[in-house]
Amino acid sequence: MPNHLIVEGPQLGVLSIKLHRPEALNALNTALLAELADTLIAAQDDAEVRTVVITGSRRAFAAGADIKEMAERDLVGMLEDPRQRHWSTITRFSKPIIAAVNGFCLGGGCELAMHADILIAGEDARFGQPEINLGIMPGAGGTQRLVRAVGKALATQMVLTGEPISARRALEAGLVSEITQPELTVERAIAVAETIAAKAPLAVRLAREALHKAEDTDLATGLRFERHAFTLLAGTKDREEGIHAFQEKRPATFNGH
Ligand code: CAA
Repeated sequence: MPNHLIVEGPQLGVLSIKLHRPEALNALNTALLAELADTLIAAQDDAEVRTVVITGSRRAFAAGADIKEMAERDLVGMLEDPRQRHWSTITRFSKPIIAAVNGFCLGGGCELAMHADILIAGEDARFGQPEINLGIMPGAGGTQRLVRAVGKALATQMVLTGEPISARRALEAGLVSEITQPELTVERAIAVAETIAAKAPLAVRLAREALHKAEDTDLATGLRFERHAFTLLAGTKDREEGIHAFQEKRPATFNGH
C-alpha cells in the first residue's frame, strides 16, 4: 500500500492517482516517486487501466523535489540517485496521463506535470521552475520539455528568473489545454480520461506515440512513423468495429484487438 499516494480505480478505464504529502505540499521525495513508478508499472500491465489521472491537492499539485532530502545529497549521491530510475519509468509509461493541476506546480512538480499527455489546470494553478533560486537548475526534463511546451522565450524567462506563471498564461502558451474552476479540475480531468479510455486502445497508443515523434524527430521521420502506424491499425478488429458502428449508427465497443 502506498504511503504518499491515494490510488483509486480503475473505474471506466481510468486509474486515479492523488499525490498525498500534505505536510510538504506534495514535494516529490524519493519514496513518493518510487510509489508512483511502482503504481505505473502495475497500471502498465493492467488491461483494465486505459488512462491515468494524476492530481495533487487544492493547494499544491507538487512543490518540487523534496528540498530537505536533496540537501543531504552530495555530488556522488546525485550521481547514484535512484530517482532517475523512477523518472525513466514515468517517461516510459505508454498509456495516456492526464494531469489535473491546482495550486503550486513547481520544479519537479512542473516536470511531473509535463510528463502528462494532457494538462488541465485550475484557475489558481501556478507553474514554475524555481530551482535557480536554490543555486541549481531543473533536472527532470524541465529545460527540454518546457521549451517544447511554451517556446524558448517564455521557458528561458521561467527557468532563469525562477518566477512562476499563472494558469491563464500557461493556457496561452500551450502548456495546458484547459482551465477550470479549481473545484472542477479533477472532475474535468477524469471526464477527459474517460473519453479517451472508451476509444480503441491500440489507436490511442499509436496516435500518442506519433504525437511524441513530433517532439522527438524531424518532420520526415515523424510523417513516416505516422503512415506506418496508420497502416498498422488497418489490421485491427477495433478498426472494423469502429467503421461498422458508424455505418450501423450505433456507439462502437472497442476491446483492444
Ligand atoms: N521540499 C520540501 N518541503 C517543502 C517544499 C519542497 N519543495 N515545498 C514546500 N515544502 C514544505 C515547507 O518546508 C513547509 O513545511 P514546514 O511547515 O515543515 O516548514 C510546508 O511545505 C508548507 O510550505 P510553506 O510554509 O513554504 O508554504 P507557503 O504557502 O508559504 O509557500 C511555496 C509555498 C511558495 C511553494 C514554498 O513552499 C516554496 O517556495 N517551496 C519550494 C519550491 C521550490 O523551490 N521547488 C523546487 C524544488 S528543487 C527541484 O524540484 C529540483 C528538480 O527539478 C529535480
